[in-house]
Amino acid sequence: MRLLVTGGCGFIGSNFIRHVLESRGAGVSIVNLDKLTYAANPANLADVAGRPNYRFVRGDIVDPDVVAMAMEGCDAVVNFAAETHVDRSLLGDASFIETDVRGVFVLLEEARRRGVRRFVQISTDEVYGSIARGSFTEESPLNPRNPYAASKAGGDRLAYSYWASYGVPVIITRASNNYGPYQYPEKLIPLFVTNAVDDLPLPLYGDGKNVRDWLFVRDHAAAVDFLLDAGVPGETYNIAGGNEAENIAITKRVLAELGKPEGLIRFVDDRPGHDRRYSLDAGKLARLGFTAATPFERGLVETVRWYREREDWWRPIKERDAAYREFYRTQYEQRLATSSATAKKPG
Ligand code: NAD
Ligand code: DAU
Repeated sequence: MRLLVTGGCGFIGSNFIRHVLESRGAGVSIVNLDKLTYAANPANLADVAGRPNYRFVRGDIVDPDVVAMAMEGCDAVVNFAAETHVDRSLLGDASFIETDVRGVFVLLEEARRRGVRRFVQISTDEVYGSIARGSFTEESPLNPRNPYAASKAGGDRLAYSYWASYGVPVIITRASNNYGPYQYPEKLIPLFVTNAVDDLPLPLYGDGKNVRDWLFVRDHAAAVDFLLDAGVPGETYNIAGGNEAENIAITKRVLAELGKPEGLIRFVDDRPGHDRRYSLDAGKLARLGFTAATPFERGLVETVRWYREREDWWRPIKERDAAYREFYRTQYEQRLATSSATAKKPG
């Protein structure tokens, strides 16, 4: 198999590439097309970069010429490339529309022209919106409620349309919140682990009772690898960790794991339109033969250990990256100034 992976220098993409190189060995060769946005880090793949069956191309999925060159000779595509942070999308960043919708279109057009054997579009559980009780199946209506989620829903349905209209063998995955090594320290778990290491406040939005399902990133990588062979074209698959928890519970577990006091928790003004609960029914994937295996306790211990051991990876971002520091200031300075030790009203 010759595989084009986009966004392979990000969090999930890099874990996926490492997983596939290990699971498929010499049976696969990978081209990694990545624009290297703020969220990317080529060091994520330093351990595999020298392999003869791995090649990195720096480029934008919105550029048809770059995409044509990168897809040359490939028989399968997995599209991880995206703008991914909800809070940044709420600052009015147009790159979400460009990459998460237009970029998907450019990739699909090239895949159609070439007649690739598989096209996996990595979507997200956020496209369903919030659910108070029960769980979303793949048949549930889409109701994205923030600009990131809406852009991803656009890419998700565009991919489906290329199956329905042209027969491009598209498979769509919708995973829940990933956690694990190499996650950029602006998302909940890596932000809170690295802040807690430095005894900095942990800014919990609203009342801290929003619920997410946590999927260990290597389980996600294994699921996508599985679907490359077993997934049925035109079908969508939820991928869940089976580990639902309120953010406050996750935060307390992180602090306990690090031996840090709960007094570091600061309740701050909520994220606008903050989805209350995500929950996926992953029965369809289980019936095909795959279930995520990592219990949250085990995954979290490994994740916390990784961040403790890899300060060389995250300190340069948090301490010297001007763009990170500017985002942190915009996002948290005012919120922390008006924060409290008790829960705020949810937004
Ligand atoms: P990430 O932000 O860590 O990495 C995204 C990668 O895409 C980066 O390497 C970046 O440089 C690259 N990229 C961005 N725009 C690009 C462009 N125009 N051209 C080429 N490369 C570009 O993201 P992640 O958390 O690893 O998420 C990967 C995918 O999984 C995304 O599609 C995301 O929507 C989806 N997803 C993420 C989660 C999660 O919890 N992180 C859950 C479900 C689905
Ligand atoms: O559900 C899948 C999605 O998970 C992916 O599609 C997105 O790409 C990924 O970023 C993630 O989105 P979330 O918004 O759920 O992740 P985030 O880590 O930003 O937030 C997780 C929860 O924690 C959410 O309820 C908001 C809350 N939170 C987050 C941050 C960064 C806080 O309370 N404080 C914070 O500082």
